[in-house]
Amino acid sequence: MFYNCDCIDGARKYLGDNTVDLIITDPPYGIAGDQLHKHYNRNETKVLDGYIDVPHGEYPEFTREWIKEAERVLKPGGSLYIVSGYTQLRHILNALADTGLEEVNHIIWKYNFGVHTSLKYISSHYHILYYVKPGARPTFNTYAFYSDTEKNAIGGSANYKDREDVWVIHREYKHGGNKNKNQLPKALLTKMILYSSNPDDLVCDFFLGSFSTAKIAIGLGRNACGFEKSGPAFDHHISQMASIEKSSLLDELRIPPDNKLVNRGKRLCKAEKEIIRQKYAVLIASGLTKKNAIDELSHDVGRGYWSILKTVDGTTNKSNGAVKQKIKSNELFRLFKEIKK
Ligand SMILES: C[S@@+](CC[C@H](N)C(=O)[O-])C[C@H]1O[C@@H](n2cnc3c(N)ncnc32)[C@H](O)[C@@H]1O
Repeated sequence: MFYNCDCIDGARKYLGDNTVDLIITDPPYGIAGDQLHKHYNRNETKVLDGYIDVPHGEYPEFTREWIKEAERVLKPGGSLYIVSGYTQLRHILNALADTGLEEVNHIIWKYNFGVHTSLKYISSHYHILYYVKPGARPTFNTYAFYSDTEKNAIGGSANYKDREDVWVIHREYKHGGNKNKNQLPKALLTKMILYSSNPDDLVCDFFLGSFSTAKIAIGLGRNACGFEKSGPAFDHHISQMASIEKSSLLDELRIPPDNKLVNRGKRLCKAEKEIIRQKYAVLIASGLTKKNAIDELSHDVGRGYWSILKTVDGTTNKSNGAVKQKIKSNELFRLFKEIKK
């Protein structure tokens, strides 16, 4: 499933239409990437040879061709993540705009060890363009890392924070060890793979480099395939693939607790809204702050904070007018039973 060849030729020859669930790829930079050592403050004798770049003038056409192939091989509902610096970003965005792929997010990946410069700002981010192929529901595992009620260190929603579109993920600093020119960090790949694929899905990387996408995908119980044009890079990394055990990384993953907001996303009926308002009034009367009352109600009725806020704020706004209703206790009991059903 791994081919030492140009990805455009390779995809045409080896990959059928609609066969891949997820593509994660980091194309060559088109900035003489084989000269990167001039920018990085590191000992290049430890950096593996074999990075092939694309000549600047050929970048737009090259990009259009490989992205066309990526679109063809993706299954309907399949996802594509492209990691790109800012230099050639416009060519990638233009090529994507010429496809039928739909933009989902434009993610900023902020990393450490930026390229050091003293007469301008230090570049320390990449763009990650997340697109899906229309035609089926895309895989997006909303609770892959955090359940809906888990809090982060400052009391906010851990799930919300993890799904913001600015990701701070450090590059792995391999002090002294051999490294590829631009290996993507394991945490970054794990994030994209777990949110956008399921076990046994096929994950493809058009520009394998150190095979990092493939190694992590297999470790997470997925299947992998891809292309690398450089002979030395391919030979070095393919020899390691046999030792990568499928699903071996799954034990390292934290399993998020079950979701508590079991009714999230379901339509709120009139009866349930009334019960929420009544309970809220009781909690406020008992001395709770608005936030604490909503938090408690959220657990109680299995709904998100914002949907409860909207419901109770509706009451507050209307309470000055004639709309406010008193529900008798036998009526309340009937409504509870209705919701339970
Ligand atoms: C930015 S690196 C990928 C790094 C990889 N994501 C990793 O984590 O190691 C781009 C890779 O694409 C390879 N490459 C360049 N042109 C190619 C082509 N036409 N087809 C396949 N691979 C190519 C380069 O040799 C380089 O290894």
